[in-house]
Amino acid sequence: MSKQYNVAIMGATGAVGEIMRDILEERKFPLKDIKFLASERSKGKKMKYQGREVEIEVLSPESFKGVDIVLASAGASVSKEYVKHIVDAKALIIDNSSAFRMDDDVPLVVPEVNPEDIRWNKGIIANPNCSTIIMLVPIKPLHDVAKIKRIVVSTYQATSGAGAKGMAELEQQTRDWAAGKEIKVDKFAYQILFNLIPHIDVFFEDGYTKEEMKMVKESQKILHDPSLRITATTVRVPALRSHSESINIETERKLHVKEVKELLAKAPGVTVEDDIHNKKYPMPLFVSGKDDVYVGRIREDFSIDKGINLWVVGDQLRKGAALNAVQIAELIAKEGLK
Ligand code: A2P
Repeated sequence: MSKQYNVAIMGATGAVGEIMRDILEERKFPLKDIKFLASERSKGKKMKYQGREVEIEVLSPESFKGVDIVLASAGASVSKEYVKHIVDAKALIIDNSSAFRMDDDVPLVVPEVNPEDIRWNKGIIANPNCSTIIMLVPIKPLHDVAKIKRIVVSTYQATSGAGAKGMAELEQQTRDWAAGKEIKVDKFAYQILFNLIPHIDVFFEDGYTKEEMKMVKESQKILHDPSLRITATTVRVPALRSHSESINIETERKLHVKEVKELLAKAPGVTVEDDIHNKKYPMPLFVSGKDDVYVGRIREDFSIDKGINLWVVGDQLRKGAALNAVQIAELIAKEGLK
């Protein structure tokens, strides 16, 4: 029988953690046992796995004894605090936070883009930023054949990107508005209902946000091309789940719309949904719960010689986070790296 793994989900009760649990189950990951780790707040609570109730454990340095793989999604500070204990326990951490993404000795992996990078891991593999993953899945097959010179991206990011509390805030504001009550703001800088907020993560002195620079730096690392020119504007929108992106690419070799459609139609992890006459284009409401990254509105950019515009939507909780992490774990298992 092939190897089975002891897996722990760190941050199991969060928006991404719960989906990690669902995806392990759906994809029949070769599990020996599963551990759900969360904070004191979840003490005594239970989560279901394959029909049985599993008690949630309060995270502690001893949590990782006997664990092979940790899928971590409890935030960067928790990952930084516990990584030593995970590595000491000889477990591999696949970390969804930004804590280690840019470290030189940590591979940053999108399985459809740079699966080979898992091989040089030293016990930590980072899962990229959700918007970065969703952008790179359809970008990679185009980059391979036409070499992308420049990317201009604007994102329309759902409240799920701020975790379970972000989604709950949009729902609560909707209920309060409908009841004529005062709207409370906590997780976002402003009311998100009926609004757009061009501010995700902290600002730097040059005017960019950390989210925008994650898209730039992480893409360069994943594509192994520090010279790739990318500029991003990231915006929070009142969608519940699934991030959308308007992506403009300039390539070295000219790409025509037909070729782009053909390349994307056969690209792993991509679904082309592009039929304007029948009003078919990807939208967050309908992509939520799907594994693929959806691409539509494929057009030539007539303002330059070799440019293409794409409208891209991906479920931030699945491909943008939990699914990507589980796919990395599957690669590790497939290559016998653990
Ligand atoms: P808990 O539910 O017990 O607070 P989200 O990204 O949806 O906000 O979820 C964050 C996840 O990380 C939750 O599972 C949360 O657990 C967990 N978490 C947050 N802080 C800690 C901590 N200090 N120790 C352990 N787990 C934590």
